[in-house]
Amino acid sequence: MEFKISFLCFKKKGSISNLAHFVGFHVFFLLCFGLKSTEAFDPLDPNGNITIKWDIMQWTPDGYVAVVTMNNFQKYRHIQAPGWTLGWAWSKKEVIWSMVGSQTTEQGDCSRFKGNVPHCCKKDPTVVDLLPGTPYNMQIANCCKGGVISSWVQDPPNAISSFQLSVGAAGTTNKTVHVPKNFTLKAPGPGYTCGAAQIVKSSQFVSPDGRRTTQALMTWNITCTYSQLLSQRTPSCCVSLSSFYNDTIVDCPTCSCGCQNNITQPGSCVEGDSPYLASVVNGPGKNSLVPLVQCTSHMCPVRIHWHVKLNYKEYWRAKITITNFNYRMNYTQWNIVAQHPNFDNITQIFSFNYQSLTPYGGINDTAMLWGMKFYNDLLMEAGPAGNVQSELLFRKDDSTFTFQKGWAFPRRIYFNGDNCVMPPPDAYPWLPNAGHLPLSPALLPLLVFWAIFASFFL
Ligand SMILES: *[C@@H]1O[C@H](CO)[C@@H](O)[C@H](O)[C@H]1NC(C)=O
Ligand SMILES: *[C@@H]1O[C@H](CO)[C@@H](O)[C@H](O)[C@H]1NC(C)=O
Ligand SMILES: *[C@@H]1O[C@H](CO)[C@@H](O)[C@H](O)[C@H]1NC(C)=O
Ligand SMILES: *[C@@H]1O[C@H](CO)[C@@H](O)[C@H](O)[C@H]1NC(C)=O
Ligand SMILES: *[C@@H]1O[C@H](CO)[C@@H](O)[C@H](O)[C@H]1NC(C)=O
Ligand SMILES: *[C@@H]1O[C@H](CO)[C@@H](O)[C@H](O)[C@H]1NC(C)=O
Ligand SMILES: *[C@@H]1O[C@H](CO)[C@@H](O)[C@H](O)[C@H]1NC(C)=O
Ligand SMILES: *[C@@H]1O[C@H](CO)[C@@H](O)[C@H](O)[C@H]1NC(C)=O
Ligand SMILES: *[C@@H]1O[C@H](CO)[C@@H](O)[C@H](O)[C@H]1NC(C)=O
Repeated sequence: MEFKISFLCFKKKGSISNLAHFVGFHVFFLLCFGLKSTEAFDPLDPNGNITIKWDIMQWTPDGYVAVVTMNNFQKYRHIQAPGWTLGWAWSKKEVIWSMVGSQTTEQGDCSRFKGNVPHCCKKDPTVVDLLPGTPYNMQIANCCKGGVISSWVQDPPNAISSFQLSVGAAGTTNKTVHVPKNFTLKAPGPGYTCGAAQIVKSSQFVSPDGRRTTQALMTWNITCTYSQLLSQRTPSCCVSLSSFYNDTIVDCPTCSCGCQNNITQPGSCVEGDSPYLASVVNGPGKNSLVPLVQCTSHMCPVRIHWHVKLNYKEYWRAKITITNFNYRMNYTQWNIVAQHPNFDNITQIFSFNYQSLTPYGGINDTAMLWGMKFYNDLLMEAGPAGNVQSELLFRKDDSTFTFQKGWAFPRRIYFNGDNCVMPPPDAYPWLPNAGHLPLSPALLPLLVFWAIFASFFL
């Protein structure tokens, strides 16, 4: 595919400089294609998933007691307030007698029961977490966090959520019990797809002192994966660029996340200096999940700015600024993932936490960055405090380092697990006096190879 496209490009335009330009940026083109074809697959976290484990702890006269545990095995995608919602469909006529650590949103029709009334009689119950501060007798371990689950890299002990339920009118042996079907996980919007429950090896539980191991009577696993395409129609963040060597600030592409349209969608954004700001922000839809963004050309709730700041003899320095344009969201435990070939020689990161991600073994070009607890881990709603920043110091590797062709800019950036819209490569700030499309020596061998390759076809 690479060869075919570049060959066409060469033949059509017949210009070496166009080809050089193309070679320099073919990576970006591939990323574009990659983005469209990879549905529920995130190339930077290929194994990321949320696994729901359903452990039957005890059989009861008419069913069982189970502990359901959700493990977030995604490196950088978390579930923030207002939290997760889990649903499923019972296979038979099961009911939920009681729950600890969570509740169903609706009880449903329990009129067929006399005496004890179940917690929920719906065929397709919807479960939500309880809020922090729930009385101790209604809690179990890892419950009651308002449905918030941290990402695996950022806060592993909190990348888990559990509840207990007592099920009636169900089977009472591992042969007669039926696994629930059609699991749905909302966070709280769409985005996750859950597979069917699989009967797996029973979970084992080791006592705190490590001297005794018990095991579940039966265990099912359900795996849910995330897809940005399913989650929303428009992107939620964009990237802008600038550098010390060129005055141009390359803003986010216009309409990255939506367009200002006063005719069809009046009030789709608010001016930052509007005297009516407070009333709009606290007006209708105050508690809704729909972002209320400041009016900008890109209309994104979040912008990430990458500034190439300084050039030293052996190092160079970049500054990252994350700005919140959403008046309705304080991003708690935010994170970004950035891809740049120089991350294998990152020397220092100021005021953010850092973890290298190597989705493909050897290639160490991806970094996850997030705020420091109690310092800048909360990205405040739009306004004067609505930004966080950091500087990165990279050590130059002579064989790859260059300021040409936008090399110093990131290849892609995610905010809270969503891919941000980048400016097109040909809009990047250029190095002055370097000509529009300079040929770097490193590209020459490739160019020669492709020229020869192309000549076979001519
Ligand atoms: C879920 O993620 C874990 C951790 O990355 C991985 O070991 C497991 O294989 C994944 N499960 C599936 C079904 O992809
Ligand atoms: C089931 O899920 C748990 C985590 O919730 C995991 O440790 C275990 O390996 C999974 N089992 C299988 C067979 O995938
Ligand atoms: C059910 O229990 C029997 C023993 O009581 C065990 O041999 C069998 O493997 C169990 N089956 C499943 C699916 O767990
Ligand atoms: C699960 O979903 C499928 C397709 O939506 C539907 O045909 C099936 O009846 C559902 N199963 C249950 C138990 O509701
Ligand atoms: C939309 O309205 C705002 C003020 O309400 C104005 O500043 C902005 O220029 C308008 N945009 C368009 C595209 O007309
Ligand atoms: C964000 O946090 C501030 C300070 O805690 C609070 O005043 C504000 O209402 C919060 N905004 C939202 C949208 O939750
Ligand atoms: C990637 O490079 C950074 C900086 O040199 C280093 O700290 C980190 O350990 C490397 N990670 C891997 C997985 O090699
Ligand atoms: C950059 O990192 C690579 C891989 O870790 C290493 O081989 C190389 O020596 C480093 N370069 C410098 C200048 O530190
Ligand atoms: C800076 O980069 C822009 C492209 O974004 C280019 O149009 C402009 O000529 C460059 N300025 C200089 C001084 O090279």
